[in-house]
Amino acid sequence: MKIFIDTAITEEIKEGAKLGILKGVTTNPSLLAKSGRTLDDVITEILSLVDGPISAEVTEADEETMYKQAHDIVKMAKNDNITIKLPMTEDGIAVCSRLSKEGIKTNVTLIFSVSQALLAMEAGATFISPFMGRVDDYYHDDDSGFELIRKIMEVKKNFGYESEIIAASIRNVKHVEQAALAGADIATIPYKVIKEMYKNELTTRGLQIFRDAAK
Ligand code: G3P
Repeated sequence: MKIFIDTAITEEIKEGAKLGILKGVTTNPSLLAKSGRTLDDVITEILSLVDGPISAEVTEADEETMYKQAHDIVKMAKNDNITIKLPMTEDGIAVCSRLSKEGIKTNVTLIFSVSQALLAMEAGATFISPFMGRVDDYYHDDDSGFELIRKIMEVKKNFGYESEIIAASIRNVKHVEQAALAGADIATIPYKVIKEMYKNELTTRGLQIFRDAAK
């Protein structure tokens, strides 16, 4: 499973890039607001830091304005790694079909059901983003997100869709493990959760034992 970082904070991306395991970046309007920077500014810097798909989300709602905004982002980025993140709406899916035919990378976001995923895959989305954490929050359990990814992967396999499935809205290490067990192609992970993935109490203790022995 490939690891993307879910942030618009470029310091986190720089740190993540040093770890040598990042294959892409996803942003969204909330993450952008946290960075306090404009989309053009942040995306240009991220494109110079990571050689992989970088998702930038449109904010317009109707098909024609969204399509135009998508093209403005592509023009600004001047880089094939730019990926247009589109909302899971009728207009978003229509724009996804148009951009896919033009060879522009797309990421359909806010996916919460198998039927939404099916529509996005039929529209030729390069990536689709089911939200694990928000599904678990909504159903007050810790396996709805896992089940969502598992079922979408099954549908993808049944029909040979090429869209890559990004497990998104990852809140903790358990979500990452569930995404991998469900067969997600990619997990987009906040920086602090990536750091947590390195840790295990037994590793810390084992290291201490070996270091003491080596003295
Ligand atoms: O980029 C989409 C996503 O990962 C959002 O996560 O934590 O706002 O549910 P969250």
